[in-house]
Amino acid sequence: MAVIAHKNPQVTVTVVDINEDRIQGWNSDELPVFEPGLLDVVKEARGRNLFFSTAVEAAIADADIIFVSVNTPTKEFGVGKGSAANLMYIEKCARTIARVAKSDKIIVEKSTVPVRTAEFLKQILHAEGSEYQFDIVSNPEFLAEGTAIVDLNNPDRVLIGGDQTVEGKKAVAEVSKLYEAWVPKERILKTNLWSSELSKLTANAFLAQRISSINSISALCERTDADVDEVARAIGMDSRIGSKFLRSSVGFGGSCFQKDILNLVYLCEFFGLPEVADYWRKVVEMNDFQKRRFVGRIMTAMFNTVSGRNLAIFGFAFKKDTNDTRESAAIAVCRDLLEERAILHIYDPRVKKSQIYRDLGFDPDKEDSRVKIVNDPYQAVADCDGLAVLTEWDEFNDLDYSKIFERMRKPAHIFDGRNLLDAERLRQIGFTMHCIGKGETGAAVKPMRRKSDF
Ligand code: UDX
Repeated sequence: MAVIAHKNPQVTVTVVDINEDRIQGWNSDELPVFEPGLLDVVKEARGRNLFFSTAVEAAIADADIIFVSVNTPTKEFGVGKGSAANLMYIEKCARTIARVAKSDKIIVEKSTVPVRTAEFLKQILHAEGSEYQFDIVSNPEFLAEGTAIVDLNNPDRVLIGGDQTVEGKKAVAEVSKLYEAWVPKERILKTNLWSSELSKLTANAFLAQRISSINSISALCERTDADVDEVARAIGMDSRIGSKFLRSSVGFGGSCFQKDILNLVYLCEFFGLPEVADYWRKVVEMNDFQKRRFVGRIMTAMFNTVSGRNLAIFGFAFKKDTNDTRESAAIAVCRDLLEERAILHIYDPRVKKSQIYRDLGFDPDKEDSRVKIVNDPYQAVADCDGLAVLTEWDEFNDLDYSKIFERMRKPAHIFDGRNLLDAERLRQIGFTMHCIGKGETGAAVKPMRRKSDF
């Protein structure tokens, strides 16, 4: 919304939230989320045509277009538990809108929603007996965290779906106008409501599938001394495959991929397509396997005992340039290591200690000797047997690894969950390197293992 306000100075954008702390954050220079370039955009428009407020009802009454951007988390109870989307917040919004609206509105689904949510929204809006007309438009967001501003400034496409009626098309055109301020018309794609809703889930499923596919190959590379980066490069040069999203890693995280695939799985089951559901479920299962496999490698290197050992963790965010930890692979890896009674020294340049403690199931107000959160990477590695890189922060490449080597216990292991570091150089310093999808030197073909080993 900040970018829309920035590009459309004649349009007043009011962002409302019931959470006062958040709104206070948005009205300060300490924004509630860390996102490169966002503060500049907010500062430029804030107070001019961009406002942040807790006056939800007043903002609804004033608005011509309402972007519904609330959470749609995975349901944790009842029918569809663990896979369906919980539409409770969407429903609450719809009821509030219907209750307080004093004019016709265009309602934009910005949250990622299951296909046919617009149907549900329409029912709720009409059930409240409002005399006004509500046109529903789907406008999913494809930006990625850490590059949000760049992605928004130069989107591959903007997708807008609506009813194929005269009013529906008019509503789509209104929303389109906001984007036409900076996006070339040929990149604004207009579809029916259901295609637009389903395209968002499908895009995320395809992206995640690429990562799981290359990660599945990384497991095979480790057994055969093929190098996953070389394989990714070789296949990525085929223009039909393309080179993006083929970086093998400790596993994908983030608020979207897992949630959206599980939601897709649920929808397929709901619509009587269990084979399709199984197909997509495997993408998430492969991701879980990759995280477990990473811990398995640490365990093997440490002769199956990490209990009481100090291990350094570099990076806790689900990717670089964000302080977001939702579904971060680091959470699963650290939890497994804690289960094995390792002592973790965690360093992340952006994630706060309280967040890490909460994610790992500790009380953020109490110090716990099992997890030390440090502000300095050199302090993190002191007396550690192993160092695991779990987020690809650029700064990890600029560290003095000779100094890190000196501080660690020997043999000093590095488990590079992002294939970020220069493994050859680090081997020369003396580290034992374990990289994703690369065999360990001298241990070419590994024995077969049973499926139950991990
Ligand atoms: C994703 C989609 O990219 C975006 O279009 C959608 O709007 C929201 O979900 P985001 O979750 O912010 O965006 O980040 P993304 O860059 O897609 O990365 C997701 C996860 O996949 C991260 O954990 C990242 O480290 C991992 N990843 C990504 C890989 O492991 N390998 C890759 O090649 C790319």
